[in-house]
Amino acid sequence: MADSTKVPHTTTDAGIRVQSDEHSLTVGPDGPIVLNDHYLLEQMANFNRERIPERQPHAKGSGAHGYFEVTQDVSKYTKAKVFQPGTKTDVLMRFSTVAGERGSPDTWRDPRGFSVKMYTDDGNFDMVGNNTPVFFIRDPIKFQNFIRSQKRRADNGLRDHDMQWDFWTLSPESAHQVTYLMGDRGVPKNWREMNGYSSHTYSLVNAEGEKFWVKFHFKTDLGDGNAHLTQEEADKMAGMDGDYHRRDLFNAIADGNYPSWTLYWQIMPWDEAKTYRLNPFDLTKVWPHADYPLIKVGKLVLNRNPTDFHTEIEQAAFEPNNMVPGIGLSPDKMLLARGFSYSDAHRARLGVNYKEIPVNRPQSPVHSYSKDGAGRTIGVTDPVYAPNSYGGPAAQPDMGAEAGTWYSDGDMVRAAYTLREDDDDFSQARALINDVMNDDERERLVMNVTGHLCDGVSEKVLVRAFDYWKQIDGPTGDKIEKAVREKLGGESKAKGMASALSISG
Ligand code: HEM
Repeated sequence: MADSTKVPHTTTDAGIRVQSDEHSLTVGPDGPIVLNDHYLLEQMANFNRERIPERQPHAKGSGAHGYFEVTQDVSKYTKAKVFQPGTKTDVLMRFSTVAGERGSPDTWRDPRGFSVKMYTDDGNFDMVGNNTPVFFIRDPIKFQNFIRSQKRRADNGLRDHDMQWDFWTLSPESAHQVTYLMGDRGVPKNWREMNGYSSHTYSLVNAEGEKFWVKFHFKTDLGDGNAHLTQEEADKMAGMDGDYHRRDLFNAIADGNYPSWTLYWQIMPWDEAKTYRLNPFDLTKVWPHADYPLIKVGKLVLNRNPTDFHTEIEQAAFEPNNMVPGIGLSPDKMLLARGFSYSDAHRARLGVNYKEIPVNRPQSPVHSYSKDGAGRTIGVTDPVYAPNSYGGPAAQPDMGAEAGTWYSDGDMVRAAYTLREDDDDFSQARALINDVMNDDERERLVMNVTGHLCDGVSEKVLVRAFDYWKQIDGPTGDKIEKAVREKLGGESKAKGMASALSISG
């Protein structure tokens, strides 16, 4: 027991010293509890309100604090202060799985979120990426349905491989990301040895007003970014330590073993985007490095653990629309939709004044005209409107060119991106298997897909999955079909989504 003369007094939330941590106020030692034990009431009430909603996707994760330092001169691409030579900026990072809930195992197969918040002199810059350079879909109207297909069924509340493959095989644009997911990146060994990617294309503008397109690559300084657990190891770990990745990051930082990443950019000259052989804004594609090599920018280091997980990690709010002067969004439809979606999610989860929560608060001054609302704690001063003639803040546009603006003209339509010469759903996935993976990685890919397909996927969907893999790569598809048929001993008996009453009834 702690020496009670040395530790601080327990108080109520109003700072009033309490009489006991052990005993409620009662009428005699054996009598009833009285209603004027305010401390007991406060403790019960507070406890009942401790939980906040979890993030819709990416609920399970953790993170840490650190810094980003620019080690090269990339000022010819951007005027953003945060990317000027030698600039050092405080950073918050969060890693996550996508589909699992807040208490789900870290080692479930899934892409991993890779969120970075930089507290720059010009406001917060957020890069909300993943450990893969591409994504499953290219139109945001499919995102909600995609995530639902990866989470839980309506009737039994279970995750269901049949609905996952049903969605993927009906969405061939998913092939590239599904190949990553079923390969080693689907279960990273830990977060420290993982790469992170913006995946999307963003825009940059330099001090002369010259614009560029850019993709961000954070490469781990510990290996090749493919450190992984096998499916067997991951399944075992899910039972032994559901918080395996969270624990690894925390312990590494606590031991002074600070993880770090080197940031590289791929830069595409502005006008090349119009004629490049692939749509450079299609999030299901990478830009081949032979066309756009990696350019070194700086180093990101995590060196401080949170002291309060709830206020520093659970209440962290990352949003792709947090762009600072010199960096902007691009015509990627997914990115533009994300520009709306995240702040809405934060208002629902954390309240309208979530940017006042210390971890989300910029280090640079805030002079906005937002006021009032639940949870507001920072005082607002008059005048509360603009324009005004009483010395309130006034917008002072940066006279230089703005990133995140581009020429656009056309009829309003609901249509897929215009296809370019080399745009198709399967060839980059095929190249990933044949040109990037080695024999062992290819073998694990076939095993992982086989195991996944033999676990609850109905015959109807299975046949489409074989076709999907054969379109990606004929020999790989044949191997998967053979292995699945052998393992199942013939056709699948799984009912999959067909067992759901609302559909079949
Ligand atoms: C239209 C497409 C997308 C929509 C509408 C969307 C929406 C969301 C929403 C609502 C959240 C929860 C935010 C919260 O409550 O804090 C979230 C989290 C997240 N999303 Fe997306 N997302 C999309 C695509 C993507 C893509 C393409 C990536 C990666 C390149 C990505 C990476 C993440 C990450 C890393 C998080 C967790 C952020 C954190 O650490 O707090 N999302 N997404």
